Amino acid sequence: TTATIVLDPAFRVAPVNRRTFGTFVEHLGRCVYTGIFEPGHPKADDDGFREDVLALVRELGVSTVRYPGGNFVSGYRWEDGVGPLESRPRRLDLAWKSIETNEFGLNEFMRWTRKAGLEPMMALNLGTRGVQEALDLLEYATHPSGTHLSELRREHGEKDPHDIGLWCLGNELDGPWQIGHKTAHEYGRLAAESARAMKMVKPDLELVACGSSSSGMPTFGSWEAEVLEEAFEYVDHISCHAYYQETDGDLGSFLASAVNMDHFIGSVAATADHVAAKRKSDKRIGISFDEWNVWYQSHMHEAGPRDEWEIAPRLIEDEYNAADAVVVGSLLISLLRNTDRVAVACQAQLVNAIAPIRSEPGGAAWRQTIFHPFALTSRMAAGEVLRAEITAPSVQTAKYGEVPAVDAVATYDEASGDVAVFMVNRHTGSDITVELDARAFGSGSVDEAVGIYEADVYSTNTEAEPERVVPKPNTSVRLDGGKLRAVLPKASWTAVKLS
Ligand code: AHR
Repeated sequence: TTATIVLDPAFRVAPVNRRTFGTFVEHLGRCVYTGIFEPGHPKADDDGFREDVLALVRELGVSTVRYPGGNFVSGYRWEDGVGPLESRPRRLDLAWKSIETNEFGLNEFMRWTRKAGLEPMMALNLGTRGVQEALDLLEYATHPSGTHLSELRREHGEKDPHDIGLWCLGNELDGPWQIGHKTAHEYGRLAAESARAMKMVKPDLELVACGSSSSGMPTFGSWEAEVLEEAFEYVDHISCHAYYQETDGDLGSFLASAVNMDHFIGSVAATADHVAAKRKSDKRIGISFDEWNVWYQSHMHEAGPRDEWEIAPRLIEDEYNAADAVVVGSLLISLLRNTDRVAVACQAQLVNAIAPIRSEPGGAAWRQTIFHPFALTSRMAAGEVLRAEITAPSVQTAKYGEVPAVDAVATYDEASGDVAVFMVNRHTGSDITVELDARAFGSGSVDEAVGIYEADVYSTNTEAEPERVVPKPNTSVRLDGGKLRAVLPKASWTAVKLS
């Protein structure tokens, strides 16, 4: 079985946007506590940040980090997490049935982002709170000095204002599970008024309105339209959230999850453009795909409700397999292909809770399978994103009908001449030989050809065997006269760099 791919510098989408490689740290389970932060751990630094985890975060190549939630933020009081530790209250976190100690808050987070070299993306509580609290947090965090709240930050040891330019106006308020769940009209008004007031403080803020919690929500489409009817003038982006998992042994549909992501992005962009058209506006609302990943939500539901209120319980610590890594690689192909519309994307989440990095309290930290396609794509993507012209056999899937067995996207860095190609073979039964025409670039050599290739796609990485699934070289790759030939094993993801 063969497929052909044609690449050309003229097939330009847009420059690679580093914010495509965003991540998410929520006060959820052990993402913060015993994830990024564990005072007393042998590898903790003076701030209590785990240096073993920080090293993996840097290796993962993430750019922007959304914080502090998620469902958590919709019941959160940011003031609880600042000031002297001894006066920080313990609170019930209703979203995750946990006890929040507030040992880690805004200033710890900002210190951690500086150490990790990440851009913060701050989420506001628009579930139980409103315009005033949003303004208070903005003033505390970003006003230089001379007002009550900015001086309070300075008393708390942060003399310089925090550089936070990207804000989420709440989280998933369309979801009936959300604390302070709202109708589209209620939320649209609150988002508009919060955004309008925040831009009175700082006109250059970038603000993200909540879109739907998934494209399967009953209100999907009408929610985005109604929210944007209210908030269009004041917001810059609208969010998308999507999680995928294999269900009922249907690996074929699972491997084709990016078909849903492409469609999701297209639908939300069309809805935003429709609102713009009605207003005779040429403003293009961006998409903030600020939660995406593989997540075995069915396992969480099967586990049922928990009885105890605990501090940092083990929650949604999915152990990922090789197929999950292939899907993560293919979702990154979709995000890159849509780089002219996707302003921000955050893989949810970073450590322990549905995460590429796992860590044990007092113990080791390691890379899950899904770490690898993310790290490779982030490292290799450079310059301009290029659309790939693909002719491939199709595969029949239960969820998405007939889909091309091969998907791909490329990047081209004119300055260095480097071309990176990211490819996925979604066929569950056959290897596919790809013939790729890259003559337009004049590349002479294959610098790197690696991917996720496992005979058993259900292999995982564990604490005992953390390197069971790692990228392997693809030794079939040949470049001859600008034509590349590569065998893509069934159910695999591949990255090739030419120079
Ligand atoms: O990422 C886990 C949860 O998924 C987030 O808290 C919420 O926003 C979404 O439903």
